Amino acid sequence: MKVDVLLGLQWGDEGKGKVVDVLTPRYDVVSRFQGGPNAGHTLEFAGQKYVLRSIPSGIFQGNKINIIGNGVVLDPALFKAEVEALEASGHDLTKRLYISKKAHLILPTHRLLDAAYEKAKGDSKIGTTGKGIGPTYTDKISRNGVRVGDILCDFEKKYTIAINKHKAILAQYNFEYDLKKIEDEWFEGIEKLKQFTFIDSEHEINNKLKENKSVLAEGAQGTMLDIDFGSYPFVTSSNTICAGACTGLGIAPRNIGEVFGIFKAYCTRVGSGPFPTELLDETGDSLRKLGFEFGSVTGRPRRCGWIDLVALKYAIMINGVSKLIMMKSDVLDSFKTIKACVAYKINGETVTEFPYEITDNLEPVYKELAGWETDMTKMQNEKEFPVQFNDYIAFLEKELQVPIYIVSVGPDRAQTIVR
Ligand code: GDP
Ligand code: IMO
Ligand code: MG
Repeated sequence: MKVDVLLGLQWGDEGKGKVVDVLTPRYDVVSRFQGGPNAGHTLEFAGQKYVLRSIPSGIFQGNKINIIGNGVVLDPALFKAEVEALEASGHDLTKRLYISKKAHLILPTHRLLDAAYEKAKGDSKIGTTGKGIGPTYTDKISRNGVRVGDILCDFEKKYTIAINKHKAILAQYNFEYDLKKIEDEWFEGIEKLKQFTFIDSEHEINNKLKENKSVLAEGAQGTMLDIDFGSYPFVTSSNTICAGACTGLGIAPRNIGEVFGIFKAYCTRVGSGPFPTELLDETGDSLRKLGFEFGSVTGRPRRCGWIDLVALKYAIMINGVSKLIMMKSDVLDSFKTIKACVAYKINGETVTEFPYEITDNLEPVYKELAGWETDMTKMQNEKEFPVQFNDYIAFLEKELQVPIYIVSVGPDRAQTIVR
């Protein structure tokens, strides 16, 4: 069988965790392929809410195999906290969570470097999650990284060499820190990590495919945060796009099956960087309030705006999306009218292809649609959809040229309508 990929089409937080959980019963394996604890994937069911950061969102559906792939960067201290929180709620993960030996470790000093670089950037800071993501991927690319597999061999030596390099950089930045406490927590995390089986995940996943087993690859962040195609430099440091699933799991492009592209019925972004349809007015405040748009992990308020079809078409193109999933439709339930950005006006010229750079002289061109002014949160079937909502779906499908396969009308597992 093939690997289906589920990934975000906007600036992250589209609702990936919820839908991976919903789709998991169809799969044998669920695997994260990039990013790290910068992610916060929220799942809700049976009156409980969970936020996952490094653990795949397939962990709650029976005894499915969950794999943290080679493309992921892993912080042992945060991983320990995440595992212990799940253990406290009665979930034993050791028999169904496996970790790639080739995943890179986020060292305690990577977090410090993240903070030092952000501080040095001043007003032009990225607004990172502060989890050491950029510095860890930097070390991976510059061939200075420490990997999960290294824990099993000559670990102290590899760790010390890396830490000493980081200390020298931190000194150049005159960055003050107290390493002792975070280092102690980090090594406690390493002990926790050792309770899990480290695997050659590329072999494991390809063997599963040969055995006709199905795999779902779970993306983190979103296409507009991709290191190559996102709004650079205000991006994360990994390939969040479909191609990232190939490098982040060791699967061939021809083994990719469905590509599920997930988006909100409007749009949000956290951190700095351009956001063409951002609403700095009461409508933006309403979206934030109604959609409870605050970071799952950091609690940071998310910037809110209307859906951006120029950016969405770009994301669909880059990923080869075969099925769309629309989230948080219910957040628009009370709006009399809603807007969708269909083009950008740049220096008086109408542009429909996502440009190299988003500058201040860009103005979104909107199409206004009638709202449905109906509570959709208890709906179970598309036959119940109000006519204006069906019109919104038809409009989006015509613009985007990809079918909307799932509609989400609330945060709970049960509030999901497959069309
Ligand atoms: P992820 O990072 O893509 O997994 O998304 P997050 O978990 O960071 O953010 C999505 C937020 O929206 C979470 O708080 C979810 O519980 C919530 N959510 C997901 N789907 C829906 C939906 O259809 N309606 C509403 N109102 N909330 C949703
Ligand atoms: P999930 O998987 C939303 C953003 C940060 C910042 C930029 C770089 O939950 O959708 P980083 O710490 O990665 O170096 O930060 O990327 N960012 C996210 N925004 N959702 C996420 O993950 C994000 N992960 C990183 O806010 O702007
Ligand atoms: Mg999130």
